[in-house]
Amino acid sequence: MKCTVCRAWMTSGKCHLCEQPMKASEIAALVNGKLYGVDKSALGFTAANRARAINLTFCSDPSGLKNTQSEIVLSTIGSHNAAQTGQTVIEVENPKAAFAQALRTKAPATVPKIFADAVINSKYVSIGRNVVIKPLAVIGYEGFGFEPTGSGYEIFPHIGGVIIEDDVFIGSCTCVNRGKLEDTVIGQGTKIDNLVHVAHNVRLGKNCIVVAHTIIGGSVTIGNGVYIAMSAIIRDHVKIGDNAFIGMGAVVTKDVEPGVTVIGNPARPYQKTVKP
Ligand SMILES: CC(C)(COP(=O)(O)OP(=O)(O)OC[C@H]1O[C@@H](n2cnc3c(N)ncnc32)[C@H](O)[C@@H]1OP(=O)(O)O)[C@@H](O)C(=O)NCCC(=O)NCCS
Repeated sequence: MKCTVCRAWMTSGKCHLCEQPMKASEIAALVNGKLYGVDKSALGFTAANRARAINLTFCSDPSGLKNTQSEIVLSTIGSHNAAQTGQTVIEVENPKAAFAQALRTKAPATVPKIFADAVINSKYVSIGRNVVIKPLAVIGYEGFGFEPTGSGYEIFPHIGGVIIEDDVFIGSCTCVNRGKLEDTVIGQGTKIDNLVHVAHNVRLGKNCIVVAHTIIGGSVTIGNGVYIAMSAIIRDHVKIGDNAFIGMGAVVTKDVEPGVTVIGNPARPYQKTVKP
């Protein structure tokens, strides 16, 4: 059943998001924002285009203030001049992140846990603290490694494992194969979406984002803070430097220097650096 105030799904007769209103001043203090307008109370958290007057929302662009009915809006620095009459604005550096911070006080994210339906070959997998592994992820089984014999193919025995460091998130239906002779490593804080393939011996650095449907070939080495957008394909043995950005659908055939954004097939450096 959905709440009539904020339209969030309710698990009982009451909406826990709307139980207690939040004053605009309280939200501003929480997110370290600057309050402009009357100190109103917000009930519920909603997207700008669906918000009612009482719901808290956010706009990543000042022009969004005109297009929402919400009267309590988290918005960018300097945007309060674009507010509608009666609209209270809380200015912050990153309105979306601030909105998420306020929402977390009412709706904590999934508690770190390994879901029962995840398939983990635990003999060869080491898992750190605060790790989330979603249902139907498959971790620690042999990779796709066959050697030609002349008359067919024989499996290359895999004797490596998988090391998953602290604070990693692995989405549903993502496969992380165990290494051949070394380990496959997912670095601390890295978040992997659904339907991602991580082949044997891949080394993913710390605090990387890997969005859905990406394929990372065997022995790829990825630095720290790398963002890999939807449906990228990374050729085996390629090296990607720290803080690189791999655009959606990119087919990465060569090494990528640190901090560089690449797009296309084959992937080439791209000048404009817009992050999602
Ligand atoms: C790399 C990226 C950031 C570029 O975005 P951008 O700078 O806003 O690019 P624009 O939309 O302004 O497009 C500029 C040009 O590049 C093209 N382009 C943009 N992204 C492209 C891509 N990934 N591959 C090929 N061409 C691309 C556009 O078609 C446009 O071409 P044009 O000038 O001929 O019209 C974007 O492609 C990307 O990967 N975003 C991440 C998406 C994602 O994973 N989001 C998370 C979802 S959960």
